[in-house]
Amino acid sequence: MASAYKIQEHSFDMVVVGAGGAGLRATFGLAQKGLKTACITKVFPTRSHTVAAQGGVAAALANMGDDNWKYHFYDTVKGSDWLGDQDAIEYMCREAIPAIIELEHYGVPFSRTDDGKIYQRPFGGMTTKFGKGPPAQRTCAAADRTGHAILHTLYQQSLAHDAQFFIEYFALDLIMDEHGACRGVLALDMAEGTLHLFKAQGTVLATGGYGRAYFSATSAHTCTGDGGGMALRAGLGMQDMEFVQFHPTGIYGAGCLITEGVRGEGGILRNSSGERFMERYAPSVKDLAPRDMVSRAMTMEIRDGRGVGEHKDHILLDLTHLGPEVIHKKLPGIAESARIFAGVDVEKQPIPVIPTVHYNMGGIPTNYHGEVVQLRDGNPDAVVPGLYAIGEAACVSVHGANRLGSNSLLDLVVFGRAVANRCAETITPDAKQAPLAADACDIALARLDKLRNASGSTPTSVIRDKMQRTMQADAAVFRTSQTLAEGVAKMRDIHASFADVKVTDRSMVWNSDLIETFELANLLDQALVTIVSAENRKESRGAHAHEDFPERDDAHWQKHTLCWVDEKGNTRIDYRPVHMQPMTGDVESIPPAKRVY
Ligand code: FUM
Repeated sequence: MASAYKIQEHSFDMVVVGAGGAGLRATFGLAQKGLKTACITKVFPTRSHTVAAQGGVAAALANMGDDNWKYHFYDTVKGSDWLGDQDAIEYMCREAIPAIIELEHYGVPFSRTDDGKIYQRPFGGMTTKFGKGPPAQRTCAAADRTGHAILHTLYQQSLAHDAQFFIEYFALDLIMDEHGACRGVLALDMAEGTLHLFKAQGTVLATGGYGRAYFSATSAHTCTGDGGGMALRAGLGMQDMEFVQFHPTGIYGAGCLITEGVRGEGGILRNSSGERFMERYAPSVKDLAPRDMVSRAMTMEIRDGRGVGEHKDHILLDLTHLGPEVIHKKLPGIAESARIFAGVDVEKQPIPVIPTVHYNMGGIPTNYHGEVVQLRDGNPDAVVPGLYAIGEAACVSVHGANRLGSNSLLDLVVFGRAVANRCAETITPDAKQAPLAADACDIALARLDKLRNASGSTPTSVIRDKMQRTMQADAAVFRTSQTLAEGVAKMRDIHASFADVKVTDRSMVWNSDLIETFELANLLDQALVTIVSAENRKESRGAHAHEDFPERDDAHWQKHTLCWVDEKGNTRIDYRPVHMQPMTGDVESIPPAKRVY
């Protein structure tokens, strides 16, 4: 096998897979620390999905009123519905402040207050005084194009450091050794059709989420969870995959994101009678309740016949009262999206919206240094040597069962930076790497060869469509024992149908048929693990709203799910405990309580 495919070898201290916010922050951070670093990415860095993030990045800077990282810590623990690890949450919320000031110094063009400070807007679930004070203005914004501003600045910083980019390279598989350590990654240069083995002391997966397992998502078509797919094939378990976030305001029919920043600036959700229904569901914070609650409230309004439109199947987001100045200055991007994708002039008409898949709280389990951890010999926190994961690909777990809006851009920069800091302490620049076994790439090459020559009868797009529709219908905002059981059975069949996949293009050069097939394989494994984990969790918590088990059940279910899948689609479940102790004594552990807003 090895002889049929020629492989070019590269040797680095570190290889980062992915060039979104997390990948770029890690890449230049590692290079800055003197580690020889490669970044491989399937899209040009500034086209990574971070570019689509709109509303902002959370940090308790207190530029626009009282705030404190300890309030941010409290809100994030509560927002996670007590599934987040409190040590990691403390790390993220206190590091938020230096990480954002650092971004400002790198040149991110944040919007400004009249006195020149970073502008901050309210976002869902962000409060003051440990939930007892008014909403916090904590989300640092560059109008409604914050991700764009951050991603471009991070790429500029990367170019200023000595990191080497391999652009439009698709990562095929992790190279693991006989001791279970990660030794690098095999990748395909899509333009040249050549294969490249990146040997490294450390491999960082920064490959983003797998939103495209669903039919309607705010995620880009590139969000196919390639890191998660590689981790599962390497025999690693994924964590808390049942928790899939639906953003309340995707444009009805198109799925494009309308930022929560609209509600932060005063936008209001209305039902068919024009009622501001969130007053009934979250009397104190109303439209600024966390996303899981708003998405459920919208779904209940629609179910109870108070949806709008011909089919009464969506809700209206009204910002007509904000006035042209606020819209032009703070929300220009969504005004344009609403015009193009919904045919709406937001100064005069409300936007038709519906809860839309937006974010994966689950992912590759890590500690707050970004090191991948697994349950091994009774140790729930055993580090996988040489492997790191950051950003949406990872489950640190700072978001637990429900992420607060604007904690994602924060997660990217804080943990991108954390992994660089950790590796600076633990990895010796230019250290000699042990030789790899002669057959180290054989499994990955055999898989490449099999898929390139796949001559079944079902095109990739047909299997993908079935998977997306099944996930959309059966692992939705509300789940029942019946929908989940049916969904698991259907997903098992769809997963098995991949054995009959048909790839038409046999070439190695710019073969998008083949790349989409690799992506589908990654999505299928994660879709199956998601719905199996959801069917297994017999309670409701955060984004997992199980109608047959409507209450949170801490006695039995305050634990992280771990789920593995093998090549044949056999799944296995186990658990890790939630870390209830914060990282330092500066804050106290927040005990579980009823989650009301
Ligand atoms: O609504 C938004 O702007 C999205 C932000 C986020 O997901 O953090």
